[in-house]
Amino acid sequence: MKKRCALRALDLIEDGMTIGLGGGSTISFLISFIRDTQRAVQIVTPSYATASLCAKAGLTVIPTHLVPQIDLAFDGCDEVDQSLNALKSGGAIHTKEKIIASLAKEYILLVDESKVFQDLRFDVPVALEVIPEARLYVANEVKKLGAEVVERNSSAKDGITMSDNGNLIIDAYFQPTPKLKDLNTQLKQIVGVVETSLFYQIATKMIVATETTTKIIER
Ligand code: 5RP
Repeated sequence: MKKRCALRALDLIEDGMTIGLGGGSTISFLISFIRDTQRAVQIVTPSYATASLCAKAGLTVIPTHLVPQIDLAFDGCDEVDQSLNALKSGGAIHTKEKIIASLAKEYILLVDESKVFQDLRFDVPVALEVIPEARLYVANEVKKLGAEVVERNSSAKDGITMSDNGNLIIDAYFQPTPKLKDLNTQLKQIVGVVETSLFYQIATKMIVATETTTKIIER
């Protein structure tokens, strides 16, 4: 399913384009297809693993800060709903993923059908990238919104583990499922939260693969 999804994504890519690539196994397939078909594209990515795979495949990777606009950006996710709202919590690189999504004319999620739900289930937490000094403040504010809060890798000896940007990752577990619009606003208003892994009304399309087909859903 992931290969079929990546092949459908490849169809959208034209020579000369600047392409955003996120992280994960479906993106890895897409990288190998771009290499095999020798598409003349330049890549930007929020993921060190993806940058490394692209470099090994001989693809041109350029730093995001040099790019004024991206033609198409592709990314995986952990959960997505029918309105294309998504949770992208596992990788903890959501701030850079959102920057690439914002630069992109189209931000396209690549998923197999097991990740698509009528409404987000919140089986994964909302990951918050947090300025270290604000860790206890943010944790308390998020608890007030009804979440259970776990600092990622808090079992590490010093209790502090940095994100790529030198910040902390705090996982907020919400049950029952909160209202997305309110949650998005409330979390972003907390001082010290850099970004959240809730991608509310950001994706413009998704390619969904089943055992036999792929379909493109637009927002
Ligand atoms: C992590 C993500 C990844 O993009 C996603 O998990 C990748 O999925 P897959 O390996 O199935 O392509 O959003 O938060």
